Amino acid sequence: MIFVVAIISYILGSIPNAYLIGKYFFNMDIRNLGSGNVGSTNALRNFGRKAGIATLICDALKGFIAVLIAEKLNVEHAVAVSLVFVVLGHMYSVFLNFKSGKGVATSFGALLYIDIKFVLILVGIFILVVLFSRMVSLGSILAAISAIFIGYFYFGLSEIFYAVLIIGALIVYKHRANINRIINHEESKIF
Ligand code: G3P
Repeated sequence: MIFVVAIISYILGSIPNAYLIGKYFFNMDIRNLGSGNVGSTNALRNFGRKAGIATLICDALKGFIAVLIAEKLNVEHAVAVSLVFVVLGHMYSVFLNFKSGKGVATSFGALLYIDIKFVLILVGIFILVVLFSRMVSLGSILAAISAIFIGYFYFGLSEIFYAVLIIGALIVYKHRANINRIINHEESKIF
């Protein structure tokens, strides 16, 4: 049964909202634009504020819904497994040849269902970093690293903590090109 949870979460996570919005509303492939990332920052960068916000909401929503479904299924470990697999789906979408987003909004959405206070702390860190640096990527990276450290104290050595550890590490890994650009002072600024 846990495989069903993983598959449902992975497929939900695979829905490439930024790609779909780009394709159907702008007739463009977001993978060929800006950073090439299939996510809300790149949608905002290339298609404007409305598309960026719509992508952010839809990406967060699929994370939220995946974990909600997992919990309702009443299977052991379902929430932690769903959290990891919905983010994996977003990062390695089955609909886009396994190359898609970086998992930030989807992680936030999924974690929002799990613990709103934890998410608010991370959102606070994210906003502060973005305001000071003007780099969404830096906000994402530092929020992901913070999630691991704060998660350890917040959730203890529980399965939710291990799930947060996995998605946090994956988010940092997915930002490796951004990290290089940040080091070389070449990362794009959001405002
Ligand atoms: O959530 C993705 C964001 O942190 C970076 O996006 O398009 O600047 O690589 P992008």
